[in-house]
Amino acid sequence: MFFKKSIIALTGLFLCIFLIVHLSANSILVLPEEMARGLYNSYSTTLRESPLIKVVAYVLYLSIVLHAVYALLITLNNRRAKSKSYSLNRNRENSTWASQNMGLLGITILLFIVVHLANFWARIKLGMGEEVGLDTDGNVDVYEVTYSLFQNIYYVCFYSILMIPLGLHLHHGLKSAFMTLGFYNRKWLRIISKVSLIYAAIMAIGFGIIPFIVFLK
Ligand code: HEM
Repeated sequence: MFFKKSIIALTGLFLCIFLIVHLSANSILVLPEEMARGLYNSYSTTLRESPLIKVVAYVLYLSIVLHAVYALLITLNNRRAKSKSYSLNRNRENSTWASQNMGLLGITILLFIVVHLANFWARIKLGMGEEVGLDTDGNVDVYEVTYSLFQNIYYVCFYSILMIPLGLHLHHGLKSAFMTLGFYNRKWLRIISKVSLIYAAIMAIGFGIIPFIVFLK
């Protein structure tokens, strides 16, 4: 059990770091178009062409898979235990809705990631679907892919609304990850709780607002 929880915690922390980098890069999208297009496309090209980032990308895919698989195993285990155990029923009183529904939140985020990868990654990296053009510097026009997707209000709402479960999942998940890794005395818990809340709010609001800003451009 501890091994499974540690894998979830370590892969989860790695995914949290990825999200900070991903949000920072996506913030370029809110800049005026003449600046944003060149910057976003050259950043994206540099990443795709770097051998180091290619390795990091494989670690990222593996982390998503391991995180989801081990979380599923633990959720199933807990379900089985919950139906029998009195002590777990007592824990229920002290836990939040998010902590009791991490599996559901996780599946929602996984579905989001599948749609998201089909929207961007499959087109840009695998060359699937409509061909992506080049900008005036000769870089793959990832900005245009993003811009045209977020001209569709349904996608804007889809991306923004699903940042609510992402925020709830990150808030509880980050706290849990630190606790699994041994930070659970009172003082640390208070700090970790605050950091997790601030982190989750920045991620959910940041990722949630970008599609609207691009839509309104
Ligand atoms: C405003 C919201 C977002 C935008 C505009 C956005 C944009 C993008 C783009 C353009 C790519 C392809 C990058 C490339 O290959 O050059 C990408 C990849 C990816 N995104 Fe997002 N993203 C957003 C939110 C998210 C969120 C919330 C998650 C996770 C919960 C996420 C997870 C990923 C993953 C795992 C990849 C594949 C990484 C890779 O292989 O390089 N994205 N995103």
